[in-house]
Amino acid sequence: MVFPLQVTGAETRRRGKVLVGPVSLHLAGVGATVVIGPNGSGKTSLLGLLHGTARLHAGTIAWQLPMDQARAVQSFVFQRPVMLRRSVVDNIAYPLLIRGLPKAKAMAQALDWAKRVGLGDMPYRAAPSLSGGEQQKLALARAFITAPQVVFLDEPCASLDGRATAEIEAILQDQKAQGTRLVMSTHDMGQARRLADEIVFLRGGQVHETGPAAQFFDAPQTDAARAFLNGDIVE
Ligand SMILES: Nc1ncnc2c1ncn2[C@@H]1O[C@H](COP(=O)(O)OP(=O)(O)OP(=O)(O)O)[C@@H](O)[C@H]1O
Ligand SMILES: [Mg+2]
Repeated sequence: MVFPLQVTGAETRRRGKVLVGPVSLHLAGVGATVVIGPNGSGKTSLLGLLHGTARLHAGTIAWQLPMDQARAVQSFVFQRPVMLRRSVVDNIAYPLLIRGLPKAKAMAQALDWAKRVGLGDMPYRAAPSLSGGEQQKLALARAFITAPQVVFLDEPCASLDGRATAEIEAILQDQKAQGTRLVMSTHDMGQARRLADEIVFLRGGQVHETGPAAQFFDAPQTDAARAFLNGDIVE
């Protein structure tokens, strides 16, 4: 198990500018952590930092395994999924193939996952021709097929309609119930309420408030969190 994760004074910069940090967080091993905050507050940067794709310039990020081994049990779903110019099942099978699974086994599992995410009637379609919602479902199947311990999702439902969002949330709830640890960002406070066990509210690249989701939504402790939940403009 890669959890708990202890983050202490972690910071990432770009050309001298701090994108996020210093951030200190403790993430326990179960449930969903949802990262919220205004545009530019550092949500994407924080997810990249935790996953190890953004460079750590200061502080420490301590998984229970070395970062390369921790990365191997994680998946990352981008806001805009990247599709290979191949079929749906080829895309879903890809992480298994690069891990050395025999092709027939990988394809069988990919077909199964295509069905689980609602793409069972289009397994051989060219992935780039899918709609945005369908591509996002493909990205989820590709993220979950390796049975990761942690899945990072950066605004996985941005630009999707209510129905596609509900379908994707159902997949996330199901995976969460099966013990997959989720760490996701969203702008959708309804989604945050539905999925989060714990909230990290970022502001200006730093953790402004964090706590159990019920507590955060019912009784936010800071003026900025109250204003943000109220829909007011928070810089
Ligand atoms: N590649 C980059 N080069 C320079 N600055 C960057 C880069 N990526 C992000 N930033 C800056 O870092 C800060 C945090 O950006 P980040 O994308 O993490 O925020 P965010 O909370 O995900 O925003 P959004 O809600 O718009 O997705 C912003 O000020 C942004 O302009
Ligand atoms: Mg972002």
